Amino acid sequence: MQIHTTIDSLRAARRAAGRVALVPTMGNLHEGHITLMRQAGERADAVIASIFVNRLQFGPNEDFEKYPRTLEADCEKLEAAGVAHLFTPTESAMYPVRQTYHVDPDPIQVATLEGAFRPGHFRGVATVVLKLLNIVQPDVALFGKKDYQQLMVLRNMVAQLAIPVEVLPGETVRADDGLALSSRNRYLSTSEREEAARLYRCLCRIRDAIRAGERNFDALERAAMGELATHRWQPDYVAVRRQSDLQSPQTPSDALVVLAAARLGSTRLIDNLEI
Ligand code: PAJ
Repeated sequence: MQIHTTIDSLRAARRAAGRVALVPTMGNLHEGHITLMRQAGERADAVIASIFVNRLQFGPNEDFEKYPRTLEADCEKLEAAGVAHLFTPTESAMYPVRQTYHVDPDPIQVATLEGAFRPGHFRGVATVVLKLLNIVQPDVALFGKKDYQQLMVLRNMVAQLAIPVEVLPGETVRADDGLALSSRNRYLSTSEREEAARLYRCLCRIRDAIRAGERNFDALERAAMGELATHRWQPDYVAVRRQSDLQSPQTPSDALVVLAAARLGSTRLIDNLEI
């Protein structure tokens, strides 16, 4: 695997690479990321992974400084997954001047869920992903459903700005107890880690109830928030939404997804399940 820390080096390699699939990440790679790499390999001649902890998408009181940076271990995993190129730009390679041009996602689509709790987050995500797409110019880019609203925002950005790339979603990879793999799971203490799978179980219960015909989404959401709160979580939201635009369901035929975010101790976890 070749490692590129500058845009020039990456671009030269990309030109020689044929059909390219890009998998953007912030590193501290786990099986969720690696599954995306393997899926990418099936869609292209060469996989390019990026690792860049993007300051623009972190709020002032979020975990940018302490976000786990594990480049050496990440490189081993990428090698083993057959990734051809790693783009891991320095801060000054990615942002040589202060980034004053941004991508502003649809305000309605980011006024809710993660966007409501993390103001400016999706603007930072969309801006860095557009920049990565412009640098790499991949044929395909892969993003996980674990970050469901992010996937929606990026799909809409690519469609509305006619960016010449195909966006492919990857299914959420989970631990044996159901907890969605996440770089932030390593912040959990042993007892918090045991408790953490409750978030997934709450989502499963809501999914099962809806499949069984329950239509009082509000009651399902409140029951799950209540359960989390009685087990030392601080839930931000549990919400049944339609898959297409993450707004409230309008008709019985809407395809649904249930999404949740909650803090356990100082760790904020998110998850979702399509219904
Ligand atoms: P990061 O959290 O590192 O995630 C990189 C990609 O891996 C994202 O598309 C994410 O949805 C996917 N992913 C994370 N956990 C997953 C899991 N358990 N199963 C399947 N896919 C999973 O998301 C970001 O980085 C950043 O916002 C980024 C898009 C790189 C822009 O900075």
